[in-house]
Amino acid sequence: MSKFIIEQSPGLSGTVRISGAKNSALPIIAAVLLSEGQCRIEDVPLLKDVINMCELLKWLGFKTTIEKNECISIQSSRIKKHFVPYELASQMRASFLVMGPLLSRVGKTRVSLPGGCAIGTRPIDLHLKGFAAMGAKITQGHGYVEAKAKKLKGAKIYLDFPSVGATENIMMAACLAEGQTIIENAAVEPEIVDLANFLVNMGAHIKGAGTDTIKIEGVKKLKGCTHTVIPDRIEAGTFMIAAAITKGNIRIENVVTDHLKPISAKMREIGVEIMEEETAIIINAKEKFKSIDIKTLPFPGFPTDMQAQFMALMSIIEGTSIIIETIFENRFMHVSELKRMGANIKIEGRSAVVEGVKKMTGAKVKATDLRAGAALVLAALTAQGESEIKDVKHIDRGYYELEKKLCALGAKIRKIDVDDEEIE
Ligand code: UD1
Repeated sequence: MSKFIIEQSPGLSGTVRISGAKNSALPIIAAVLLSEGQCRIEDVPLLKDVINMCELLKWLGFKTTIEKNECISIQSSRIKKHFVPYELASQMRASFLVMGPLLSRVGKTRVSLPGGCAIGTRPIDLHLKGFAAMGAKITQGHGYVEAKAKKLKGAKIYLDFPSVGATENIMMAACLAEGQTIIENAAVEPEIVDLANFLVNMGAHIKGAGTDTIKIEGVKKLKGCTHTVIPDRIEAGTFMIAAAITKGNIRIENVVTDHLKPISAKMREIGVEIMEEETAIIINAKEKFKSIDIKTLPFPGFPTDMQAQFMALMSIIEGTSIIIETIFENRFMHVSELKRMGANIKIEGRSAVVEGVKKMTGAKVKATDLRAGAALVLAALTAQGESEIKDVKHIDRGYYELEKKLCALGAKIRKIDVDDEEIE
């Protein structure tokens, strides 16, 4: 267990390099289960979730080597097991992403149900409907879901909601299925395109990734390949807010500016100056900020994964800002913690009304989930005095060396290991 001690840190400045995207790396590592060769994945953020996914592949029989320079090599071999026990699945929600590849490659899979989490119930019905449409027999019991199909058959699948995970799982399952699969109302997030590019590199036939209709023509085999993970747009967005909230000036390198458009548009509306280069973005926050409204939506709408961090910034902008969360039903866990730091926020159903305050004040707070934790770190950078953020493990799940990167920009952050008793 660790905690952060953060002092007010005005005017962050300097250059930061963004790591590879966690939400790309996880499905890509799961997709290696489809290959019959050696895969090398570069620019992988070596986060707890990523290490857990590698452990899962090892458990299933693959040889996984984590190299020093944020690179992972995975050697395909015979898949020894087809089930994921509770102990492994409960470590990480994304473990469910091995279901599509396992079903497609070995014709059966049994995975512990992921269950809810701090931000909502997070059902998997759309994943299962997709597998069933491809001919799989699905059964559930004792906390597990099982899918079986001698050979998956291509199908036309309409998703009721453009779920990122369901699109990824079905796309992976379809790669080795017989015939053509069409996913309609598919998610269009950049991470879907990255996964599709990886699968195509391995020899899959996929068209339309990044649009709402993805067509996959099943092939007999997939080979190994080398792939570089796209930069993490949420990490980049978090550093954009770090620059704004501290009235700083930060150059953010290794970004795809197109992926950041929904975030940049809102930052500009607030009054933040943004300069774009080919693979970098420079944030300059000198002007007076204006309050804004935000509604989270699937890409290219405003990302739910940036909602909490924007709320931290809105908390110190004069006037009223409104946030509507449409993706997850319970994603306002950070509100009570931000209020402990002096923010003035009211929740009404899926909306949050934020009345800007002149200043926030340092307090003892708790990270309840990954992005909520990031929001508290950002708030602590502007809050007067010292803040203590407990349960940093949530933040470590999604940000690679966040405190080191922020310290290099001038932030005053210390990470302290504490024993469990003190946390209680
Ligand atoms: C992924 C991201 C997560 C991000 C989210 C939305 C990963 C590892 N995680 O999560 O960071 O916040 O996309 O951009 O990539 N739903 C159903 N049934 C299903 C599947 C989803 O009702 O079978 C609902 C969910 O409860 C949620 C919404 O659809 O309300 C969006 O979920 P989804 O897009 O699937 O998110 P994840 O893939 O879990």
